[in-house]
Amino acid sequence: MSLSIIILAAGKGSRMLSTKPKVFQDVGNFPMLFHVLNTANSLKNNSINLVISKSLSDYKVLIKEKYNNLTFSIQDRQQGTADAVKSALKNFKNNSSKITLILYGDTPLVSKETLNNALQKFKKDNLDLCVISMEAENKKNSYGKLIFKNKKLISIIEQSEIKNKNEYFNFCNSGVMIFNTKKLIDNLKFIKNQNKKKEFYLTDLVEIFNKKNLLIDHFSCRYQETLGVNSMIELARVNNEFQKVKRNYFLNNGVYMQAPDTVYFSYDTKIGKNVIIQPNVYLGPLVDIKNNVILRSFSYLENVKVFNNVTIGPFTRIRDGVEIKDDSKVGNFVEIKKSRIAKNVKISHLSYIGDSNINKNTNIGAGTITCNYDGVKKHKTMIGEDCFIGSNSSLVAPLKIKKGSVIGAGTVVNKDIPHETLVYRKSELIKKNKKK
Ligand code: UD1
Ligand code: CA
Repeated sequence: MSLSIIILAAGKGSRMLSTKPKVFQDVGNFPMLFHVLNTANSLKNNSINLVISKSLSDYKVLIKEKYNNLTFSIQDRQQGTADAVKSALKNFKNNSSKITLILYGDTPLVSKETLNNALQKFKKDNLDLCVISMEAENKKNSYGKLIFKNKKLISIIEQSEIKNKNEYFNFCNSGVMIFNTKKLIDNLKFIKNQNKKKEFYLTDLVEIFNKKNLLIDHFSCRYQETLGVNSMIELARVNNEFQKVKRNYFLNNGVYMQAPDTVYFSYDTKIGKNVIIQPNVYLGPLVDIKNNVILRSFSYLENVKVFNNVTIGPFTRIRDGVEIKDDSKVGNFVEIKKSRIAKNVKISHLSYIGDSNINKNTNIGAGTITCNYDGVKKHKTMIGEDCFIGSNSSLVAPLKIKKGSVIGAGTVVNKDIPHETLVYRKSELIKKNKKK
């Protein structure tokens, strides 16, 4: 292994005021920590060490399920970023990697490109320490500040330690740092906790390295990538930034959004060619959209696969493992759950379709409801091809309606229907003069 990655995720996250651990808060419906782990995994020849607190032990199984190539280190007491790195180094006994990269679990947007470019600089310039820096948008911020002397980086001062609060600094510490592994190990012990927070600051290594004439530099990247999360406001900001990146990605790949700022994507959203998304569409996890699809306004999709030439919405909710095959149409005020919709099916208005299988060329009339729940269990509705289900029908599951059948409007269907059958209930329309 030529690269060791240490991810710090043991912080208390007390400023979040949430019962959920900070690094498990979602960005684009995916935990922040998993964003960082994905980026870490995309770097070549790496070994990953994740530093967590005891309180995160319950989450270990969840992490291992997705990432089986990690070593865990437990930081007993949260005494600062340097102390966290120290707990990781305990696992470094047989580690021969020359370079160590430090990432934070609460900084999920750092890109693979930035890390690769910084690593390249680190190697090319033969550095001992490279700090990934940025120029913060807001001059009033809580980031550590880079201090230079004769254009040379000499130390980092934490915001809480700055005496003159009006002093202006160009560069902030993103938190990401690259070290020569041996020099990191040799010098960590010199860090003291004589500061306002009584913590061991990893950032103090800049001054320590400088005093020993080791080679230090910084690599600047877009500040948006380094946005850290300490509060709900910052989580919202990071999520917003993530959405911008996703929207740009899809716009650059030919997806037309009429009002991009109102469309919400998840980390794993897939969209094909020639797709139009109208304003105010929400795409939750596991959405896969193929080609020539139109998503009309106010549609809410999660865990759904949409095939070619399908039109969806406006005002639809589709969820829990739905497949909609080519040329089908799902219109306004339709909810579909756990169902398979074959080719060229029309469900144009006001329906609930749950636990169903609808075969090709079938038309589902307005207001059709699959009554899939008997109060205890869910049951299936199977509708064959070329059927016509009249408006306002109640289909009481378990139910099979075979190929080519026609159900009259307003029918409660609670028995299986053989193929090519016309079904309606006999109840005549009574007309009386009101006055008699
Ligand atoms: C840190 C940096 C600051 C930088 C900022 C960028 C230090 C001293 N300060 O400040 O210069 O501008 O990040 O976002 O390094 N953690 C542990 N164990 C601990 C403490 C923290 O694992 O004992 C982890 C946290 O989970 C988090 C990361 O380290 O992922 C950063 O800790 P945090 O307390 O958020 O540091 P900042 O005050 O933001
Ligand atoms: Ca932080």
